[in-house]
Amino acid sequence: MVMPILRCLQVNKKYAVGENTVHALRDITISFEQGEICAVRGPSGSGKSTLLHILGGLEYPTTGKVYYQDEDLFAYNDNQLSILRRRRFGFVFQAYNLVQELTAYENILLPVLLDKKKPDEKYLSMLIEILGLQQRLDHLPSALSGGQQQRVAIARALANKPSILFADEPTGNLDGKTGREVLSLLKYVSIEMGVTLILVTHDLHIAEQAERIILLEDGCITEDSGRREV
Ligand SMILES: Nc1ncnc2c1ncn2[C@@H]1O[C@H](COP(=O)(O)OP(=O)(O)OP(=O)(O)O)[C@@H](O)[C@H]1O
Ligand SMILES: [Mg+2]
Repeated sequence: MVMPILRCLQVNKKYAVGENTVHALRDITISFEQGEICAVRGPSGSGKSTLLHILGGLEYPTTGKVYYQDEDLFAYNDNQLSILRRRRFGFVFQAYNLVQELTAYENILLPVLLDKKKPDEKYLSMLIEILGLQQRLDHLPSALSGGQQQRVAIARALANKPSILFADEPTGNLDGKTGREVLSLLKYVSIEMGVTLILVTHDLHIAEQAERIILLEDGCITEDSGRREV
């Protein structure tokens, strides 16, 4: 069996809300392999974003563990964890989260510069070309359409050559046609770069484009088309 790239073991997440506790994730155990294209779907409030944030080391679980290869994410301190996130993980969200004062190219380059690395110009040009952004590099985000902004966000998420790309409703702010285009690009670049894609969506049509579909309901995995031993 191939060693999974990401594993989560008996993860629970509880939020205290006033006097009540919301049990957002219940005993989630799941693993992902390198290069897998996987969709997580489920109704609003089922825990999709919470799961994505915990798998990506953006949020701590209440109990349970997450391993990237054999590294225990939450055994790291904040600084170590943010370095691992920057080098190994890329994130794309529904709101594109671009820095408004920087051009498209500067936004794409940002994670590389934050890591004090020399940009790999050849790789970045390839990424920019695949995403069709050659003519838009000097534009500020405010001068780009939603689809173009999301393509810049995808390029930025891939700039550091991550192993895993996490996307939370990446087409949520786009019209149907633009959404489908952005999604096929996201899938295409992930396959081209051999990146594992974990995509959260409530949209069944979008989920059906993935090789593996995981269904979350009320914090539990109720279906997993790619279930395997963890
Ligand atoms: N910071 C928080 N504090 C309190 N409760 C939270 C917090 N974040 C999420 N929750 C609760 O946890 C549950 C799961 O939320 P989550 O955002 O993961 O759902 P989701 O499946 O992503 O929903 P959507 O499709 O609407 O984005 C919900 O009941 C939500 O209200
Ligand atoms: Mg969500």
